[in-house]
Amino acid sequence: MAKHIVTLIPGDGIGPETSAAMQKVVAAAGADIEWELAEAGAHMIESCGSPLPESTIDSVHRNKVAIKGPVTTPVGTGFRSVNVALRKALKLNVNLRPVISIPGTGSRYEDIDLVVVRENSEDLYAGVEFEEGSEGAKELIEFCKEQGAGVIREDSGISIKPISITASDAIVRYAFDYAKRLGRRKVTAAHKANIMKFSDGLFLREARKVAEDYPEIEFNDNIIDAFCMNLVMDPSRFDVIVFPNLYGDIASDLCAGLAGGLGIAPGANIGPDYAVFEAVHGSAPDIAGKDLCNPTAQILSAAMMLDHLGETDCAARIRSAIRRIYREGEVVTGDIRRATNSDKPAASCTEFAAELCRILEEDN
Ligand code: NAI
Repeated sequence: MAKHIVTLIPGDGIGPETSAAMQKVVAAAGADIEWELAEAGAHMIESCGSPLPESTIDSVHRNKVAIKGPVTTPVGTGFRSVNVALRKALKLNVNLRPVISIPGTGSRYEDIDLVVVRENSEDLYAGVEFEEGSEGAKELIEFCKEQGAGVIREDSGISIKPISITASDAIVRYAFDYAKRLGRRKVTAAHKANIMKFSDGLFLREARKVAEDYPEIEFNDNIIDAFCMNLVMDPSRFDVIVFPNLYGDIASDLCAGLAGGLGIAPGANIGPDYAVFEAVHGSAPDIAGKDLCNPTAQILSAAMMLDHLGETDCAARIRSAIRRIYREGEVVTGDIRRATNSDKPAASCTEFAAELCRILEEDN
């Protein structure tokens, strides 16, 4: 029997391609993992009636650890996000996205080393919404008027933004504990508390309270718009940054863009009982099924998973092979060729994975 059993959710779009590459690289790094395949995505609706079958959630319940590829979410209409549903079902309140520049990827900065810690369970992603013209929307608009809370136009759709003490305390505490564990110097809380006093204001107040329990770690806060400018001008001002859900989602793509693009940005969703590792990027329908995608983000997500499983040597070997492949710059995918303005031929996803496996086997 393998040492670890991990649920593998390939997802859709480029997910099956990045997942296959990841599996090969993890095996070449010497990790003893049995993959339990579980499905999610639009292709499951016909056979299961849902894009997120119960059997997929059961598999993660059993194995505690999963790695997934992206899943397409229809915009505006159709089913709600499988990712949000999975995070809810497994109580994955933390979204952790380390952002480290890798030389050779054409990143805007060569020395980025920061960590995005995003609250994963509430804010505008709570899924509490009222469709324009619905009874609920009408009643809410009337209620707000009666309460003197403000006038909402009658033809509005409404999404509610709940921010709780419980979730804010938990996410900020996670950020500080992470900073302490990894010897990081500073935590920054990003918010818009000047405008949203009862939601972001609460988040900031809780962040300040939690910071008092960690006097050895520097703490400051930044209004989200100023944060974006500060980050783009000088990322070295930041170390660990903690966000409510929506700002964290946007900021992690921004950070990924500064550090070499979505193709190399890994992530994890972590809760008290389960952990699901996944790249920051989506299903990339424009390149899906063509063997063009860059699997680095999912491979680096697998390295985070191996750390989580205690297989730190395998994780380190994978990170080192990734640094080498980009340093050498001979076998890289099209996104990196474009980012580095190179006219050398691009490798396919399969060729890239094969070269990484070769490097890992050579290093062994
Ligand atoms: P996207 O991340 O899928 O693509 C944005 C751009 O980056 C595209 O040009 C794409 O080709 C490129 N790209 C992304 N990953 C790449 C990779 N590994 N290698 C090379 N190029 C890559 O974002 P988009 O287009 O906004 O979303 C597409 C779908 O993915 C949507 O349905 C969205 O809801 C879903 N999505 C799912 C996520 C998840 O399952 N965790 C996360 C983000 C989006």
